[in-house]
Amino acid sequence: MSAYSRIAILTAKKAGLLLRRKLAQKRKVTYKGAVNLVTEMDWASEKVIVSTLSRHFPNHGFLAEEKAARQGVSPFRWIIDPLDGTTNYAHGFPIFCVSIALEKEKELILGVVYDPMRQELFLAEKGKGAQLNGRKIHVSSTRKLSRSLLATGFPYDLRESPVNNFDHFKNFGLRVHAVRRTGSAALDLCYVAAGRFDGFWEMRLGPWDLAAGSLILREAGGKITDFSGENLGLDGRYVLANNGKIHQEMIVLLKKGRI
Ligand code: IPD
Ligand code: CA
Ligand code: CA
Repeated sequence: MSAYSRIAILTAKKAGLLLRRKLAQKRKVTYKGAVNLVTEMDWASEKVIVSTLSRHFPNHGFLAEEKAARQGVSPFRWIIDPLDGTTNYAHGFPIFCVSIALEKEKELILGVVYDPMRQELFLAEKGKGAQLNGRKIHVSSTRKLSRSLLATGFPYDLRESPVNNFDHFKNFGLRVHAVRRTGSAALDLCYVAAGRFDGFWEMRLGPWDLAAGSLILREAGGKITDFSGENLGLDGRYVLANNGKIHQEMIVLLKKGRI
């Protein structure tokens, strides 16, 4: 395991355990939008992550959700979601995680997603496969959409925009075993990687939601593209991820809804 991985794991655990410890306590909630919350713990977690990584890698750049990005003087950049699942967290609903990815020359080389409630650590290094708590993981072998368990999420501007995923939710919901909405896109991607979900789609995600989970998914044998099946970069906000086998069926159904 590389030094980057060791430090990223240590950092994700440190931030995750802080979030876990404070979950039962009252916390201040601020509104970025009508339903887009941020808690003081989003900031606290980000501070722990950025200060720990900066101490170890002072030249590296950062893109973290809650604060402005920092341009580094090296080809490395950390992409951080300090608390993915803020709405859950603000309500004391225990599904959330910390997501940390590292890119080198704009290519993702490391992804770490840590769920402190279940103490599950998802890890992928480019070209080395994906792991959950040290054991290799792989996407499911489900071949048919009709036999699938899917996950999705809804954009924060769902009250303002008619392109709000409700039509896709209905279209998929009527054709699959079930659709779940966990409230953490990073965990959704890892759960597809681990074969717990067969597929996931969501619109208007940010690079911090996606970075670590997308590498973990690819390294677990999964497929991730935009809604039309085209390559997805970190700024691609319409995300379709699955085990590869139900990809075409999902694209066909996404075309029936508003994109
Ligand atoms: C959100 C979660 C949620 C998804 C939203 C994201 P946050 O991230 O991943 O599942 O539906 O689109 O923004 O705000 O909790 O970090
Ligand atoms: Ca997020
Ligand atoms: Ca977040």
